[in-house]
Amino acid sequence: MKSGEPIYILGIESSCDETSASVCKDGKILSNIIATQEIHTQYGGVVPELASRAHMQHIVPVVQQAIDKAGIQLPMLSAIAFTQSPGLIGALLVGTGFAKSLALSLNIPLIGVHHMQAHVLSNLIEQPTQEFPFLCLTVSGGHTQIVLCKSPTDMEILGETLDDAAGEAFDKTAKLLGLPYPGGPLIDEYAQLGDGKRFAFAEPKIEQLNFSFSGVKTSILYFLQKELKKDPDFIQHHINDICASVQHCIVNILLQKLKKASLETGIKSICLAGGVSANKGLRKGLKEMATTYGWNIHMPSLEYCTDNAAMIAITGYYKHLAGIENDLSVTASARASW
Ligand code: KG4
Ligand code: ZN
Repeated sequence: MKSGEPIYILGIESSCDETSASVCKDGKILSNIIATQEIHTQYGGVVPELASRAHMQHIVPVVQQAIDKAGIQLPMLSAIAFTQSPGLIGALLVGTGFAKSLALSLNIPLIGVHHMQAHVLSNLIEQPTQEFPFLCLTVSGGHTQIVLCKSPTDMEILGETLDDAAGEAFDKTAKLLGLPYPGGPLIDEYAQLGDGKRFAFAEPKIEQLNFSFSGVKTSILYFLQKELKKDPDFIQHHINDICASVQHCIVNILLQKLKKASLETGIKSICLAGGVSANKGLRKGLKEMATTYGWNIHMPSLEYCTDNAAMIAITGYYKHLAGIENDLSVTASARASW
């Protein structure tokens, strides 16, 4: 790293169904291009093989657009950061292979990034002055975690889901209601018009700071089966109240655990991350908790909540500052320790 020169990091994300590339300059995002793969909608979930093929098609134009929008040329890059884990292995390999080839051709460092740690650090994109340590509730389609973030390169998982993730709970409920994939955002929309206290569902009794959502899903399933016997059009008649009640239940589980984590650690600096943090009920609930308990909160803008490469670039930037990089033998991993 030459002192005084700006640091340009290219970030590449390909862990699931979004091909994304981003450039940051000294920790400031200059571009964040995201190509969403629409093809999975018709299958009701992400089809891994199709995701890999779509990443292969998108990766070159997406990276080119990110470079162009940032107004730079490839030789100006200081390092390349890419999502190394966790995710769909075929999808990860596309980004990893591309990042390695480009780093080799430009003779610049390569930085492997943990997707979930990048979600946590998405909070530094718009708030570089974020105080440490902070607690982050990371809620996505595959993960639900409470993370203690001590520094950009030092994090600890305090609690996580023992079965389904919060996003899965939203998506699986949406499927029961006949809504298309991914159903989370649709439940959120209907919930805006409904009464969240109309119907109640069983809430899990899980020890410590861990979560469980499979029981909630079963409780919703039994509730719907019972009501549909009485009224075959129950879902159509009550879609807003059902969605609002489901949302209320999931959000309450998340926020109660966050409250417990704050009380146990004494940390009042709280952040959100991951796709489910786009949820309006969760954002509103967190704001209310902040007022009640004197929390200092931060939530990323929606474009940085769902999968994006800006969070990979920003994580790469902080790792670069800390001198953390990988050699060219690095490979992708579907699962990875923290
Ligand atoms: O972080 P993300 O984009 O991808 C993963 O790494 O999983 O999260 C996607 C998840 C999906 O389950 C989607 O339904 C959920 O985030 N999601 C939402 C909302 N927007 C996205 N869930 C509830 N309300 C939303 N507004
Ligand atoms: Zn994600």
